Amino acid sequence: MNMNNRRPDDMQRINTPQLAQAFIDEQIKELRAQIGNGKVLLALSGGVDSSVVAALLIRAVGKQLTCVHVNHGLLRKGEPEQVIDVFRHQMNANLVYVDAVDRFLNKLAGVKDPEEKRKIIGKEFIDVFAEEAKKLDGIKFLGQGTIYPDILESDAGVKAHHNVGGLPAELNFELVEPVKFLYKDEVRVVGKQLGLPDGMVYRQPFPGPGLGVRCVGAITRDRLEAVRESDAILREEFAKNGLEGKVWQYFTIVPDFKTTGIKDGKRTFEWPVVLRAVNSVDATAATIEQIPYELLAHITDRILKEVKGVNRVLYDLSPKPVATIEWE
Ligand code: XMP
Repeated sequence: MNMNNRRPDDMQRINTPQLAQAFIDEQIKELRAQIGNGKVLLALSGGVDSSVVAALLIRAVGKQLTCVHVNHGLLRKGEPEQVIDVFRHQMNANLVYVDAVDRFLNKLAGVKDPEEKRKIIGKEFIDVFAEEAKKLDGIKFLGQGTIYPDILESDAGVKAHHNVGGLPAELNFELVEPVKFLYKDEVRVVGKQLGLPDGMVYRQPFPGPGLGVRCVGAITRDRLEAVRESDAILREEFAKNGLEGKVWQYFTIVPDFKTTGIKDGKRTFEWPVVLRAVNSVDATAATIEQIPYELLAHITDRILKEVKGVNRVLYDLSPKPVATIEWE
């Protein structure tokens, strides 16, 4: 392992507001020393890691930071709005919001293979981000929400650790990675201390390709909307019923087939929505949350009434293994 990428042996686990504050104070000093009066660019997804890096950089260098939030059309309901509200309005950051929805969905049209979908989303993201970077003058630094497990996994050859890996070399950025020695739980404690909203700090894991892998097969806009709307109902009901923060990951899937139903006395041919709610420690294995039956029935009722194009709701009871957490 590269020694610059090794967490110091004597580093204390950050698990109190006091330790988080000490970390923040120290990072602000180090960030100012590294960046001087240079300019920094950061891809801000709204996830906890990039949000904490953004908040640290805003404290350290203010408007020398430009955040770019790319809306690829596969985000959950309300996410782009929350990023704009928190970072542009509350934290007064330089935030470039890129509406790339059509661009991504056009590239994905007709693509069925899950790995191909992932590749397109990843490549398109880098292209959009690089284009934005080129529009800005004099950027020297690139902020990244790399955390310690990313470094460990990357060293073990499990995955490439850079969140925005594969940016064109000609952009020639120096990396700024203030949370690279932190574990996820420590990032959350720091985020809370930085004043980020709980919805961001304690957010459930959300995959990079977003709702794209939950709109099974070739993505269509109407079916993607059914995923987004049903997911919003599930999240709202989990929050209301004390399951948010208790259940590790929960979401909905809309497969690419239709089944027969009946609405207002007429035969319908519409999609099923699948609910998934799992508990896990590190995503390598997962068990099923035993959602109270009344709540399942209430969520089913709401989805059938409120989500367009849906006539059936199912609950996925399959643990990992044998099933994976996502459907593709
Ligand atoms: P699976 O489906 O493999 O998921 O059991 C394990 C965890 O990883 C997330 N996941 C992804 N995260 N890009 C990501 O950033 C991906 O392509 C991806 N696929 C799955 C999944 O949500 C779960 O938390």
